[in-house]
Amino acid sequence: MVDRTPHHVAIIMDGNGRWAAARGLPRTAGHAAGEEALFNIVHGALEAGVKWLTVFTFSTENWSRSDDEVAFLMGFKEDLLTRRRDELHDLGVRVLFLGDRDDPRVSDRLRKRIREAEELTVDDTEMTMVFAFNYGSRHEIARAARAIALEAAAGDLDPGSVDEATVADRLGIPEMPDPDLVIRTSGEQRISNYLLWQTAYSEFIFTDTLWPDFRTEHLLECIEEYQARDRRYGGVDT
Ligand code: IPE
Ligand code: IPE
Ligand code: MG
Repeated sequence: MVDRTPHHVAIIMDGNGRWAAARGLPRTAGHAAGEEALFNIVHGALEAGVKWLTVFTFSTENWSRSDDEVAFLMGFKEDLLTRRRDELHDLGVRVLFLGDRDDPRVSDRLRKRIREAEELTVDDTEMTMVFAFNYGSRHEIARAARAIALEAAAGDLDPGSVDEATVADRLGIPEMPDPDLVIRTSGEQRISNYLLWQTAYSEFIFTDTLWPDFRTEHLLECIEEYQARDRRYGGVDT
């Protein structure tokens, strides 16, 4: 049988605020509760044989939330990276960040934690975990377009040669394969500026489970549903 384990699973971890509201707790308690779900899923993805796991942790649009919530999310990310990086390293998980870490709104301390986690795990090969942080797909594609324009203007690139590969090579992580499966929790059915280029032929699963309640069993259910799908890539049934 062909191995139909999705090579790359990308997740939109949504519903933390609603999870907290349902319990009469502040939204930030929902973000804190999401950590357990995240690490449960890391273990589940490793067991399932997933090689790339990308998670949406903060979008370029999430800056519009209250100062308190943004500050919590930034502090939480810093803290989580410090507490969890050794565990990820022990599991053989390589950590990469995708998004605009050079944004002046991102603190130097957090930038340093990101770099440390990436450096610690650089040679880990069991799975690559991508934290999409301060990430927006339109921003990523616009940056690739700008890079291409600058190279062409400098005479380093023939404008007539620009093709899909030229663009893909200038995205945030050029070696990242396209996601096979995208999962969004919390019942919302939209893409929210996530991996627009990379998901051209991904399978999408929307589940009502709120992110803090999401566990390996839910991931395995999604993988099963993915395995039953017929990916045609514009062709016909085989
Ligand atoms: C996802 O949960 C986490 C982030 C976007 C940072 P939300 O905070 O969006 O939770 P809801 O959608 O308001 O329930
Ligand atoms: C997408 O969720 C971003 C993350 C999960 C980090 P949002 O909750 O920000 O998306 P919208 O606003 O519902 O589209
Ligand atoms: Mg949300």
